[in-house]
Amino acid sequence: MNPVELIINKRDGKHFTASEIQWLVDSYTREEIPDYQMSALLMAIYFQGMNRDEMTALTKAMIESGKSLDLSSIEAIKVDKHSTGGVGDKVSLILAPLVAAAGVTVPMMAGRGLGHTGGTLDKLEAIPGFRTELSESEFFRQLSKIGCAIVGQTEQMVPADRQLYALRDVTGTVPSIPLICSSILSKKKAEGADALVLDVKIGNGAFFNDREITYRLARTLVELGNILDLKTQALITNMDQPLGNTIGNWIETREAMKALQGNGAKDLMDVTLALGSLMLVQAGKIDDYHTGFEILQDVLDSGRAWQRFIEMVAMQGGDVSVLNHPDIYPKPVYQAEVKASCSGNIYDMNACSLGLAALSLGAGRVKKTDAVDPKAGILLYKKVGDSVSKGEPLALLTTDCSQELGDAMNRVAQAIDIRDASPQIQPLIETLILADEELIFSLPD
Ligand code: URA
Repeated sequence: MNPVELIINKRDGKHFTASEIQWLVDSYTREEIPDYQMSALLMAIYFQGMNRDEMTALTKAMIESGKSLDLSSIEAIKVDKHSTGGVGDKVSLILAPLVAAAGVTVPMMAGRGLGHTGGTLDKLEAIPGFRTELSESEFFRQLSKIGCAIVGQTEQMVPADRQLYALRDVTGTVPSIPLICSSILSKKKAEGADALVLDVKIGNGAFFNDREITYRLARTLVELGNILDLKTQALITNMDQPLGNTIGNWIETREAMKALQGNGAKDLMDVTLALGSLMLVQAGKIDDYHTGFEILQDVLDSGRAWQRFIEMVAMQGGDVSVLNHPDIYPKPVYQAEVKASCSGNIYDMNACSLGLAALSLGAGRVKKTDAVDPKAGILLYKKVGDSVSKGEPLALLTTDCSQELGDAMNRVAQAIDIRDASPQIQPLIETLILADEELIFSLPD
């Protein structure tokens, strides 16, 4: 086959056959197609898209580029959750031990923060010693023993995605629905999950800040997941303001720990319990997600979810003394408060700008290879709809890097819009997208 011919075909809106896709993925993974040709092809896909058959073939070829885990000897249905990424989104840290303590096996393969969004692996690695790279046998043993593990993608797993994602990152081709769907679903299939609950974010802090594209992404993920025999559902949740009250790595892990101990912020717990209830449905534990809230609340209240988190941290090499005594955690060198410039109501909090402010303090990375500072972050004292008086603190910023503090304070001040008027608050959870229907998701009273 000739890569130039295939690039021209896609540029002109033609469809690939499964064998053409297989050849492209194999040849690129073996470094027989150079980056400049693959870049042109990715850009052609970005503009021309792919149909269902092409996306299915692409995802399968990506899975076959590496090793898949075989978890079939763990009899239970294994359910993972994936978020399309947001600001202050520490849900996975609470959800994996919570749902495992409710009797579901959760093999969770998570990612790192990039740009304004945070990553679960960075948050967990804020715990001294915590290992996100487990061998296959360690992963398997941990899942069999405690029902949950949160790890990163291994070197052997879906190498085509690692190579393609790195190239997309530097060629403006990340926001393409076929490329996103094949990337996410290839990893979920390869990790051995049977079912998947997706948290597709909508709003200014989300991957796409466009309703129509977000819904198209969610529907495509659900359709493709189910074609690939991965029982997939998606929940559309709002990301117009950060989830919970913290942004940063240790500070978010700390907030997740408090949530596991029964003191979680309402928005954080609503999203966590909603996703957890869907995971119970996917695992066949319940028929109707409404009953899941009570089951999971009981697990939280009993302390079993918190105990499961401690067990997970211990099995992954983390220092549990900081879980039991968080005050011994090293303190950031600098901290400063941003205060309200006038009295009124918090009308809007730009999640993307707040994420970028946390990044500039050291909590995130611009390039994949950048190091993160676990102590850098933002504690939000206020959320949208709260009233404030002039001079009242809005947020506390922490960092080891004094040069960035002034700019980050300005960014946070600008991201928080205070007005006399009351805001129109969007629903936190919008729609549940299933393989054959879409439902308005209702939270319990
Ligand atoms: N997350 C992924 O894993 N892949 C993408 O392409 C985008 C987000």
